Order: sequence, then C-alpha cells, then structure tokens
Amino acid sequence: MNKILNMDCIDYMHSLPDESIDFVLTSPPYDTMRLYKRKVTWNFDKFKEVANQLVRCIKPGSTIVWVVGDETIDHNETGTSFRQALYFKELGLNLYDTMIFEKVNPLPGFKPSLYRQCFEYIFVLCKGKMRVFNPILVDTTTKMTTYRKANKWSMENGRTTSGERKRPTPAQRFHNNIFRYNVGGVKVDHPATFPIQLAKDMIYTYTEVGMTVYDPFAGSGTTNIAAYELERDCIGTDVVEEYATMANKRLAVIMNQQLIPFDKETITCDVDKVPNGQRELHTCCLYEPNEALELV
Ligand SMILES: C[S@@+](CC[C@H](N)C(=O)[O-])C[C@H]1O[C@@H](n2cnc3c(N)ncnc32)[C@H](O)[C@@H]1O
Repeated sequence: MNKILNMDCIDYMHSLPDESIDFVLTSPPYDTMRLYKRKVTWNFDKFKEVANQLVRCIKPGSTIVWVVGDETIDHNETGTSFRQALYFKELGLNLYDTMIFEKVNPLPGFKPSLYRQCFEYIFVLCKGKMRVFNPILVDTTTKMTTYRKANKWSMENGRTTSGERKRPTPAQRFHNNIFRYNVGGVKVDHPATFPIQLAKDMIYTYTEVGMTVYDPFAGSGTTNIAAYELERDCIGTDVVEEYATMANKRLAVIMNQQLIPFDKETITCDVDKVPNGQRELHTCCLYEPNEALELV
C-alpha cells in the first residue's frame, strides 16, 4: 500500500479479486499525443482491456474519475474521449457526470481556425448508485428564496456514507462542474501531470478517509500524493520504470513529512493569480463539510 508499482496496470488488475477497489482516479495516455519514453503501447483495444478490468475490480457504488482529452489529427479530433466514456457505459457503468477541467493558463499558441484549446474532460463513472459524494461548496450571493428547490434536491441526494443528510446553507451552493486550475510549474520529468488540486478535489468528493485510491496510470504520482495527504491509502501502477521510481520518491518525501491537519479555510483568489497547480477559488470552503453545511 502507498506505493507505485512498475508494471502494466492490466497485469496488476488481473491479480485483484472482483469488486475490491474503492475508487479510481486516473488519466490515461491521450491517443498518441505523448511517447512516454517510447515504452508504452496505447490504442483502443488496450483501453478496452483496461476498462474491462477496472469495471470488474471496482466495488458496487464506487466511482472512476477518468481525466482525458483528444488528439487532433489532420484538423480532426479523434473523439476517443467520448468513445471511452461510451464504452464504460456499454460495460454497465453510469456516466454520472461529464465535467470540464479548464486550464486557467493554457499553452499559448495559434492554430488557424481554432480557438485556444483550454480544457480536458473529467468523466465521472459509477458502478450502480454512487456511495460517496462529498460536494465542494462555494459561497453564493443568491437569496434563500431562489434556493428552496436546490435545497430539496440536495437533501435527497446529499447523503454521506455516515448517514448524515446535508444541504448547502442559503449562502452556499455546490461547485459548478467546470473546475478551473492553473497548470504547469511542477518540476518533474513527466510530460503530462495533472494538477495536485484536481486530484485532491476528486478524491475528497468521491471517497472517505481510510478508503483506498487506485491510479492505474500513475505517472509522476500526483494521485498518490494527493490521496496520502487526504489520509486515504493509495496504490498506483506505471509501466515506465523511470516514472514509477520518480513517483515513489515523491511519495516518500510526502510520507516522511508530518501531515498538517486540514483547517476550515476560506480563500478568496484572484482569477489571474491562481498559484501553480491550484484550483481557481472564488470564496470557497475547503474540506470541512461538517462545519460548512447545515445538518438537516
Ligand atoms: C497521462 S499520464 C498520467 C500522469 C499522471 N496523472 C500525473 O499526474 O503524473 C499516463 C501515464 O500512463 C502510463 N501508462 C501507459 N500505459 C500504461 C499501462 N498499460 N500500465 C501502466 N501505466 C501505463 C504512462 O507511462 C504515463 O506515465
């Protein structure tokens, strides 16, 4: 536990019993956009093997968060991201949500006839009815009267695993399903890391403390570090030895540090000054849902 194994994720999952994984957060290769030291084979057949194993291995009610984007070849997006989401649906998963990971600071660059590419998909897939949903809340100025309906909805659906019913206060609402993060700035030898805050937000939302997080395509270990910091156990696999070694080293550094417990924190953040790797926050409650939410 709490390590990144240097192996093919399909081989790893073959060693697991049915319905044994609590939660998956991952980002697979995006078509053939990156070479990953020329040690990776990736195509739709390989994806299907991964998906088949993931669906076999996750527990009922568990969630897979699949962060992905399309390659554009000859002015034509591959559409692979949606093919993958639809394949998961064919396997029986519910596509709970198609969320957007928007980059506050996308790569500069000009392509004729194209607006600047600035987002990736976050597919939220679940085996049956979702077991854990701890919503991130943001402050709102909306008045109570316009919130009655929303409260009713969240009272019915915002039940946590501890059985508490929760709802936003009049001054708060669920975060939109577009998440904005500043990207880059992480000095690691890996071409495609996602922001640590994205990993924390997804892990926080779809797991409870003590659950195990699995990232089949661990890369630099972002998911594993985020999971550890949120007091979840974590396991990762990466087929490239250099990445697995680096990810284990990064995780070891975090594990040797003393964890600072989360405090309720309210941050106001200027959109243009989002620190690297961080989510854009308006005024937002971080990771203290019990205090932030009214119990009903
Ligand atoms: C998009 S990157 C993941 C990056 C990661 N989210 C991070 O923040 O560092 C995809 C990773 O999948 C790995 N990979 C590709 N095929 C694999 C397979 N069959 N089994 C395990 N890892 C694989 C690649 O080596 C690469 O590091």
